[in-house]
Amino acid sequence: MSANRPAAVVVLAAGEGTRMKSATPKVLHALCGRSLVGHVVAASRELDPEHLVVIVGHEREKVSAHLAEIDPAVRTAVQYEQNGTGHAVRMGLEELSNSGITLDGTVVVVCGDTPLLTGETLTRLAGTHSADGNAVTVLTAEVPDSTGYGRIVRDTATGAVTAIVEHKDATEEQRAIREINSGVFAFDAQLLTDALGKVRTDNSQGEEYLTDVLGILREAGHRVGAAVAGDHREILGINNRVQLAEARKLLNERLLHAAMMDGVTVVDPASTLVDVTVTFERDVTVHPGTQLLGATHLATGAEVGPNSRLKDTTVGAGARVDNTVSDGARIGEGATVGPFAYLRPGTALGTKSKAGAYVEMKNAVIGEGTKVPHLSYVGDATIGEYTNIGAASVFVNYDGVNKHHTTIGSHCRTGSDNMFVAPVTIGDGAYTAAGSVITKDVPPGSLAVARGQQRNIEGWVARKRPGSAAAQAAATASQDRPEADAEQ
Ligand code: UD1
Ligand code: CA
Repeated sequence: MSANRPAAVVVLAAGEGTRMKSATPKVLHALCGRSLVGHVVAASRELDPEHLVVIVGHEREKVSAHLAEIDPAVRTAVQYEQNGTGHAVRMGLEELSNSGITLDGTVVVVCGDTPLLTGETLTRLAGTHSADGNAVTVLTAEVPDSTGYGRIVRDTATGAVTAIVEHKDATEEQRAIREINSGVFAFDAQLLTDALGKVRTDNSQGEEYLTDVLGILREAGHRVGAAVAGDHREILGINNRVQLAEARKLLNERLLHAAMMDGVTVVDPASTLVDVTVTFERDVTVHPGTQLLGATHLATGAEVGPNSRLKDTTVGAGARVDNTVSDGARIGEGATVGPFAYLRPGTALGTKSKAGAYVEMKNAVIGEGTKVPHLSYVGDATIGEYTNIGAASVFVNYDGVNKHHTTIGSHCRTGSDNMFVAPVTIGDGAYTAAGSVITKDVPPGSLAVARGQQRNIEGWVARKRPGSAAAQAAATASQDRPEADAEQ
């Protein structure tokens, strides 16, 4: 690849994208965990260019700030008025030369709104370009409907590309051509710079067309070539939200296809959504209705879903996660989560631990083999190993102003319906009684009981609710009790 290392990649992203009908600039719309321009930048990086320049214009502060965040080495060049794709590239080259950079070699131009374009295709384009010794090589594609695209005009005798004609400027005959300009090119840097100076604006849109560079170079006797994209869907440009959804579907299919080829069982790809940043090991199973987002990683044998949303979550080998929402959690090997669990940032579940049905956890570190099986909230807590937390327990971590921490040791058995009023510590091997409100530390091995004593007021129903169904049921019950007979 380094032999074809381009001097620069120029990404065109100055346009407004009016058809998105959005307060967000078009290239910042998200697709499978990355912005549109983020996808293009990532694919461009695979070419390992010496310089990567993004042309910004519309909402340039937002776009530039985003680029600085995702790839600080990206340069931006401002195109104050969108006078066409040729003008945009000229702004990029001027920015580089103003910074004292002389380009020698290949310049690749891509559009910021084609997120499905792969680094592989760009590499192939750059390879063809240098192997054929072209002045310019255009990436083309055969599309079912070429409306709106620039048409590739070829010499009928030799098949050589002679020009690109924009839809608006094309004749009826040219409009029938199905091979279109993807908007992606490889150029010789020097020839591109010279030709851009000759591009005119005498077309239907009054713009400097980058596509005119082809005709200019050809007329000057230079080699013009084309590389045909293997899959026309790769060059899909996003102009509206219907195309955004279409691209999301295609990219999702591509990501899941790769995962399945690598040994992941995806039960229903159509209802499984995945971000580009998600990683899998072999023999993972993903059940229907599952979204895997951000830096989520599923280790071997893990089983996730159905109906789960995991973001920035690591799932250990053989862990089982069912009907769960998780954000920023680490789930240990062989752990079980759900159904209907909610794991929030800072949660770390140890090996073979459990966060069961209707359990919410936040900033909770749970040791190996420890179980929180039912209906509980565990917030700001550390729990040791092989402890069992009774059903319907609440870690009372918030006093209305500050958050406090609860520490529970190993091999504890806490009763159902406990409130652990933080800050509080329960020692190793301790027990707590059901229904306790634990406000004081419990020493290791103790039983803590913190609840009112039960008092039974005999005969209360017969006296206070005479003739009621309850009184009748009580009377019948006492007749059925032999010891009650004996008392009479
Ligand atoms: C362009 C091509 C067309 C090709 C199509 C592929 C030209 C003249 N036409 O048409 O042959 O089939 O892409 O999708 O090149 N941009 C700027 N500054 C500008 C104008 C555009 O940065 O002044 C950017 C846009 O933000 C966009 C890209 O360039 O990312 C393409 O511009 P767009 O207006 O969408 O070009 P098309 O008319 O689609
Ligand atoms: Ca376009």
